[in-house]
Amino acid sequence: MSSTVIKGGTIVTGDLSYAADVRIEGGRITEIGPNLSGDTVLDATGAYVMPGGIDPHTHLEMPFMGTYSADDFESGTRAALSGGTTMVVDFALPSPGQGLLDALQMWDNKAGRANCDYSYHMAVTWWGEQVFDEMKTVIEDRGINTFKHFMAYKGALMVNDDELFASFNRLAELGGIAMVHAENGDVVAELTAKLLAEGNTGPEAHAYSRPAQVEGEATNRAIMIADMAGVPLYVVHVSSEDAHEAIRRARSLGKRVWGEPLIQHLTLDESEYFHPDWDHAARRVMSPPFRNKKHQDSLWAGLMSGSLSVVATDHCAFTTEQKRYGIGDFSKIPNGTGGLEDRMPMLWTHGVATGRITPNEFVAITSTNIAKILNCYPKKGAILVGADADIVVWDPTKEKTITAGSQQSAIDYNVFEGHKVKGLPRFTLTRGHVAVHDGEIRTQEGHGQFVKRPGNGTVNRALSTWKDLTAPRPVERTGIPATGV
Ligand code: URP
Ligand code: ZN
Ligand code: ZN
Ligand code: ZN
Repeated sequence: MSSTVIKGGTIVTGDLSYAADVRIEGGRITEIGPNLSGDTVLDATGAYVMPGGIDPHTHLEMPFMGTYSADDFESGTRAALSGGTTMVVDFALPSPGQGLLDALQMWDNKAGRANCDYSYHMAVTWWGEQVFDEMKTVIEDRGINTFKHFMAYKGALMVNDDELFASFNRLAELGGIAMVHAENGDVVAELTAKLLAEGNTGPEAHAYSRPAQVEGEATNRAIMIADMAGVPLYVVHVSSEDAHEAIRRARSLGKRVWGEPLIQHLTLDESEYFHPDWDHAARRVMSPPFRNKKHQDSLWAGLMSGSLSVVATDHCAFTTEQKRYGIGDFSKIPNGTGGLEDRMPMLWTHGVATGRITPNEFVAITSTNIAKILNCYPKKGAILVGADADIVVWDPTKEKTITAGSQQSAIDYNVFEGHKVKGLPRFTLTRGHVAVHDGEIRTQEGHGQFVKRPGNGTVNRALSTWKDLTAPRPVERTGIPATGV
């Protein structure tokens, strides 16, 4: 078996930095230590050898708002690898009335083209006996332990509180993790109708229709419902202090809740929507919308203090042509932005280089924490003997200016256009295959494999033990008065 050795670098993990070489055979790490040799040598002098990034939130070729997101599993995972991300977790979305297993079959058909490993979250977009039954198969046979619920997109993907509670209870029973898109969909629908009626039709009104309160309210509601059901909760795309505050409070009270900010919300603000060019503003329409500095500072503080756990992209890329469906009515602009290729360099540049986070924290929030929460650690998210060789050799001196003209993503613009980044992959390895070699893309379509993530992880077991111990019980009494006397 041929071997690859990454030589002369500094290994940076979620908790440690040290000088060592890494040997890779058969797609896995087989040795870590000094002075290793191998058939192929990758020079990591002056670079950091880190677990490849895991993006826990993507929508590749997603049917949404009357169209499909433009990056599919091929271009999306090529973009990921180019930016140092070696695994993506995409959302399998059943249409209303469609079974979960049926939807998974559709996602399997699309994902065969992936250049890097991938997994799915299952979405619960409606509720019924079939969904209840199939949840067990999804967790136990398919190895998918995370289920997303949309509290927004009324009339399309949204589920109500009774459905949320029923689904959360089922997940608690099966050892799954609940996820929520937390925005109050009823209020958003009302505000949208009012804004349109008043002639507020431009992309900036998308932001007006989704103030931070709709996110704070829904986040708190989801946390309380999850606590009553006894299920761990993962809140996707946390964009505001209002939502972060609810998560921070819940965690300080011992509730099992994780928050996921996006690189877009950390680095881009609401002024994008006031740009005089309609296309510029519409290209940045996503839910929740970009916000002001107060919210951005809160998200950074959450990552620094540990109240927020991971950074994702919610990569859901639409072309300018697709965005133009919403000319004259902002509610028809397909919601979503790209970022897969830029998450790691942008976070390094705006996080590590500014001193807001350490290199070890960078690894934790882009990879290791994600693998632990989603229950695929240490296969993923680790530089350890036996782990998959999903590795990024990170050159902290390499620079570029982000521009759509040289990106891997299929769309015709980039929301980070013109941003200078310092810190880029020298090599990206996906299960040992060198997919990025000093700026040259050498991806292999179909190389990606599905990653199973079993249910009943350690947090599920701890939480269900605690909930059993503290469950309401009948009081054992010493005497019961006779009735009818
Ligand atoms: O605007 C967004 N976030 N689009 C993708 C779908 C979702 O809500 O995650
Ligand atoms: Zn969402
Ligand atoms: Zn999403
Ligand atoms: Zn920047």
